[in-house]
Amino acid sequence: MSRYLVILLSLYSATSALSIPFIHDAEQTVFNTHAPADLPHPNPTHSFWTHTPGANPLAGVGSTGALTDEADVCIIGAGITGVSAAYHFANTVGESAFPIPEGETKLRVVVLEARDFCEFRCHGWRNGGNLTPYEFLEFRKVEAQFGREAAMRYYAMEHYTSTEMARIARAGGWADAVDLVEGGHMDVMLTEARLAEVRADFDAAIAAGKRVNVTWLSREDMQSAYGTYNWGVRSPGYNVWSLKFVTQLFRQANATARSALDLRLHTRTPVTSITPLSASVSARKWALDTPRGAVKCTYVVHATNAYASHLLPHMAGPGPAGIVPVRGQVLAMRANASLAALSTTSWVGNAGYWFPRPVHSADEAPLVILGGARTAAGAPFEVGVTDDGEINPSVGRVLRAFLPALFPGMYEPGREPEAEWTGIMGYTTLNIPFVGPVLDVARPDAHAGQFIAAGYAGHGMPRAFACAEAVVGMIAAERAGRVWEAPAWFPAPFLTGVRDAPQE
Ligand SMILES: Cc1cc2nc3c(=O)[nH]c(=O)nc-3n(C[C@H](O)[C@H](O)[C@H](O)COP(=O)(O)OP(=O)(O)OC[C@H]3O[C@@H](n4cnc5c(N)ncnc54)[C@H](O)[C@@H]3O)c2cc1C
Ligand SMILES: *[C@@H]1O[C@H](CO)[C@@H](O)[C@H](O)[C@H]1NC(C)=O
Ligand SMILES: *[C@@H]1O[C@H](CO)[C@@H](O)[C@H](O)[C@H]1NC(C)=O
Ligand SMILES: *[C@@H]1O[C@H](CO)[C@@H](O)[C@H](O)[C@H]1NC(C)=O
Repeated sequence: MSRYLVILLSLYSATSALSIPFIHDAEQTVFNTHAPADLPHPNPTHSFWTHTPGANPLAGVGSTGALTDEADVCIIGAGITGVSAAYHFANTVGESAFPIPEGETKLRVVVLEARDFCEFRCHGWRNGGNLTPYEFLEFRKVEAQFGREAAMRYYAMEHYTSTEMARIARAGGWADAVDLVEGGHMDVMLTEARLAEVRADFDAAIAAGKRVNVTWLSREDMQSAYGTYNWGVRSPGYNVWSLKFVTQLFRQANATARSALDLRLHTRTPVTSITPLSASVSARKWALDTPRGAVKCTYVVHATNAYASHLLPHMAGPGPAGIVPVRGQVLAMRANASLAALSTTSWVGNAGYWFPRPVHSADEAPLVILGGARTAAGAPFEVGVTDDGEINPSVGRVLRAFLPALFPGMYEPGREPEAEWTGIMGYTTLNIPFVGPVLDVARPDAHAGQFIAAGYAGHGMPRAFACAEAVVGMIAAERAGRVWEAPAWFPAPFLTGVRDAPQE
């Protein structure tokens, strides 16, 4: 019997006077019980991000030749989570908190990626690289679900993640090379009902004592500044070419602490299963099986997001420990206005999210990256889909009509996008990730040494880097025989085991 759990993420009133074509009464995520995820699709749609020449120099690194045969830590997945974990290992190894393995000169870390480097989601991350920490959005729901202290940390973690990522790019001298833009973020509200919802979240955050840095804009302000007659609320935020960011982060990790860290990368190397090694065979605990042979590992970090349940079947959704794959769709649309008119802001509104890419000259019309409109797919809203080798034409039709309707005169109605692609997100029932040791309540000791940071529910950019940092801290603590102390920004409900008790 399949079980349905319908979560109404946010309600929109359908009474808008505007004829924005894809307003739905509710953006829904329908979680139906499903089998463990497939491996990543071998032939994904081409994204603007990954298929611009020169954008992915690490695409096939380590895909041929000898496979690394063993490592202290094996990271599965070379997206923002896996590469952030590599970065945090590089940053901490060799210090007292994270000593080098006894009898060895370096900590050996290997990253195993099923497809090309950062192929999978680097093109999806908020469809264009929106690196947007929530300031207060959904505060009432988050506080009701997790309590006030965890709610404060929930927002603090996103703030930490985005400011730290921007700081690293600047300090490394590669902020421009990855198109890091501190252009702010705008939530656009099409109806009074939606405005009231957002206001209520703002009021609740203020009442809870949260400092909130936002500017409210009236419909008239928005019309004159941006050409759309809708309310807006502006908050700090960044956008970035995420693949380039992750590439630079990997290179920096590889260049840092080389005396203490041996970092290897094997792309096009899917991990197909994980088998325990008996102590008589190896001092390592786990064999990661791949079509190229096995890698023996002491620790394993699952950075596989939507695909986690392929290797961890107990995490098939939608139960309390489940991660459910959900397909999202994005396109790159040429605007018919200057960047000055559009602004460098990244936007969210009415189940769409978009932002204009930087331009080379003032008279160049920017390419705008737009995603969302998942409800146009009809139930079950792309839930359970791991095939990003194709696009959904219904979603595509609605996306094409969105910006011309929202910004009259600034986009040419009927213009075809320059690229269109899909990617798979990893949803959880509470929309928060799982961070920590892999725990199967039915077999509590079955995964000793395995850790996970996954299940960002389509909102991983301002979270993944910090979640990876937490997992690396846990591994460091375990090696040193210490108890892990959560950083001040870590929300306790994210920890594995907190939610995944059997449901009544
Ligand atoms: C269309 C779309 C829109 C999005 N919009 C937003 C947004 O607006 N804001 C936001 O913050 N986030 C957004 N996201 C989500 C964001 O992209 C993710 O949260 C983030 O990329 C997760 O990073 P990750 O490294 O954990 O996972 P991924 O980037 O998915 O990386 C996981 C990697 O693991 C690899 N892998 C999986 N299984 C195996 C295996 N068995 N062996 C080897 N490798 C394996 C995969 O190939 C993949 O490269 C969106 C995603 C999509 C697809
Ligand atoms: C508030 O946000 C703006 C950008 O929206 C930023 O310039 C400013 O520094 C922020 N202030 C604080 C105190 O964070
Ligand atoms: C990591 O650094 C080493 C040593 O400089 C280098 O040989 C190797 O190619 C680098 N790896 C990648 C993927 O760039
Ligand atoms: C808008 O489109 C028209 C017709 O294609 C074109 O002549 C004009 O240059 C465009 N304007 C901008 C700013 O892109």
